[in-house]
Amino acid sequence: MNSLFDSLDAGALHLNNRVTMAALTRQRAEEDGNPTDLHVEYYRQRASAGLVLTEGTFPAFSNRSFPGQAGIATDEHRDGWARVADAVHADGGTLVMQIMHGGRTSHPDLLRGGEPEAPSALGTGGPVRGFSGKLDGVVPRALATDEIPRIIQEFVDGARRAVDAGVDAVEIHGANGYLLHEFTAASSNHREDAYGGSPENRARLTVEVVRAVAEEIGADRTALRISPEHGVQGVPEDDREDVLATYGALLDGIRDVGIAYLSVLHADIDGDLVAALRARFGGAFLLNSGFGKVTQFDEARHIVEDDLADAAVVGRQLIANPDLVRRWKDGLELNEPDSSTFYVGGAHGYTDYPFVG
Ligand SMILES: Cc1cc2nc3c(=O)[nH]c(=O)nc-3n(C[C@H](O)[C@H](O)[C@H](O)COP(=O)(O)O)c2cc1C
Repeated sequence: MNSLFDSLDAGALHLNNRVTMAALTRQRAEEDGNPTDLHVEYYRQRASAGLVLTEGTFPAFSNRSFPGQAGIATDEHRDGWARVADAVHADGGTLVMQIMHGGRTSHPDLLRGGEPEAPSALGTGGPVRGFSGKLDGVVPRALATDEIPRIIQEFVDGARRAVDAGVDAVEIHGANGYLLHEFTAASSNHREDAYGGSPENRARLTVEVVRAVAEEIGADRTALRISPEHGVQGVPEDDREDVLATYGALLDGIRDVGIAYLSVLHADIDGDLVAALRARFGGAFLLNSGFGKVTQFDEARHIVEDDLADAAVVGRQLIANPDLVRRWKDGLELNEPDSSTFYVGGAHGYTDYPFVG
């Protein structure tokens, strides 16, 4: 039986334990998307997690989706992240960068007047976050087929900059209702070209992004996150047969690449779908149950000890407890996450959660 505190090798990555940090958007970057001294400190503090994962970063200004989101779109961004990577490595940690295209969750306010890009001209139906606060979402522009190579290249260029910054691997964000998920889900993809319609077609963009990124930085430094049936931000996936066909096509399309890991967010961690996806993927598998309830020690242990996955993905407890691994291991008291400070600027609720003395 594996323990949460056992090490794990996944592609080029060596994890000191199986408590991996979830990607967590915290909106602390400057308006130019540069990571700051606070980022260096925040990620350094969490270096004892098996993996330190960055917030979802934007690889081009045309796909930014939150104010305060950090980028990996420029050489300056790269140099900022190099300071984060050095700090995490100096404390013995492993740093992975999540790269995301925000798709239709973006807003012209964030895009210097540009229009959000999506598979189809269909809005989320909900509000979005812009520099000027909470805004009504807009109907995005449907990407033309001949723009798809640019989208793929943006992921590739972001991944290259991340690795040049010294980041150990890149996690492509295919989850939670952002661009790649919008392509995968039939509800948000009404295209009639090779990127819409059949399950294989809807999976195609994610497959092509994964393959292109792996080609650029190495499969052993490339990872993917998906969240099938996580109907957030207007991407319901209600037809189990279609979900199996679509995500099956996706995993079949990247199987020969041999990426470092697949991370799955699904509410039913014990269910058939998660087991089927793990079997279909065949490599290192990370898992969490999503936003419904804060991941606790018992659930993380269940994931690893009962072999639902190779490692557990942990979000809010790692926001509140930079030394969570030690606290869980030694049965120590926990700080409580304060959700009012999740998405605001500054050190409070970011770098000032106390360590065990
Ligand atoms: C403040 C906050 C920001 C998040 N940002 C991201 C993100 O950038 N990328 C992502 O894939 N998931 C993101 N998530 C989802 C987390 O990765 C994780 O799946 C979720 O918090 C559930 O795990 P938990 O119960 O351990 O917190 C975010 C969640 C929270 C609470």
